[in-house]
Amino acid sequence: MSRVNNLLAQLQKYKNTSLPKKVKIVEMGPRDGLQNEKTIVQSEDKVKFINLLSKCGFQAIETTSFVSKKWVPQMGDASEVYSKIDKFPNVSYPVLVPNIIGLDQALKVGVKEIAVFGAASEAFSQKNINCSIADSLKRFNDVVIKAQQNGIKIRGYVSCVMGCPYEGDIHPQKVAEVTQKLFEMGCYEVSLGDTIGVGTPEKTKNLMQALSQFDIKKLAVHFHDTYDRAIPNILVALEHGVEVVDSSVSGLGGCPYAGKPSGNVATETVVNSLNYLGIETGIDRENLKKASDFICGLLNRQNISINF
Ligand code: HMG
Ligand code: MG
Repeated sequence: MSRVNNLLAQLQKYKNTSLPKKVKIVEMGPRDGLQNEKTIVQSEDKVKFINLLSKCGFQAIETTSFVSKKWVPQMGDASEVYSKIDKFPNVSYPVLVPNIIGLDQALKVGVKEIAVFGAASEAFSQKNINCSIADSLKRFNDVVIKAQQNGIKIRGYVSCVMGCPYEGDIHPQKVAEVTQKLFEMGCYEVSLGDTIGVGTPEKTKNLMQALSQFDIKKLAVHFHDTYDRAIPNILVALEHGVEVVDSSVSGLGGCPYAGKPSGNVATETVVNSLNYLGIETGIDRENLKKASDFICGLLNRQNISINF
């Protein structure tokens, strides 16, 4: 079966299911999308890319990361990129922040929203941010306190919610524990990261059930699409009431510390799928194509989204 027909068959199953009427898409292209690209993209091209994305109707575009450039060279120009982009009035431009050093740099350039990023896997936490889960939560707590004192909104991530490249299976209870801590410290939303794309609809259902104690409207899903299962997984999450989905234009993305890199689910595929199901996203598909053509041209990459 072609990819389009396969996707349509998946969507067809949900035609008469109760799903949210509107979904917010958080665009990951400039951050998750670019962080694993080996060739350094010029800052002015990142700015052009983000400005094109700002015209698409996203409420949030994750813009860059204030991390160590020794760890992620591609994000080494965070301050310059953040300072130079056009800030559209109804768009939030969150940035990743791992510690107080990152927060201080973000504050200097007037960032209004940050995301702290933890994990449900000890091994991944060590590889990605060089500390244990417990230590990372202590660091995030300091970051959150200072961010709140400065009027900054804070989103949280939990990585490896469906499995870890180093530890294999991750128990949903571990995801629930980290999620709980992120909410307790003051994150307004927690995004559940299937960092390596090993999720399945069954695992997604189990995870949603394990997280049923939380307000579902405060949970987002962040699927990498290694095995073409992101959309079926998203559909299960929406069925459980999730209304926020992370994705990257043209399916760019991957964490440099997650072993074999795999892209985020493509924003175009998410928008097309949700449109097909009558779910509003507010995204302008023509402008999305312009942003996608620009970045794919620049990276000499094929757009892997599914269009119909
Ligand atoms: P470390 O080496 O343990 O840091 O790295 P340190 O505190 O020991 O400091 C060492 C040096 O780094 C010092 O400089 C610090 O000033 C500097 P030196 O004295 O040697 O010149 N430093 C920094 N510089 C800039 N910005 C900072 C910063 N912090 C320290 N914020 C650290 C610890 C967390 C910094 C490092 O491990 C790091 O940057 N990791 C980031 C990794 C990353 O960005 N991964 C990708 C994002 S996560 C992801 O993709 C998953 C997600 O998409 C969800 C999903 O898919 O699951 C969110
Ligand atoms: Mg990711």
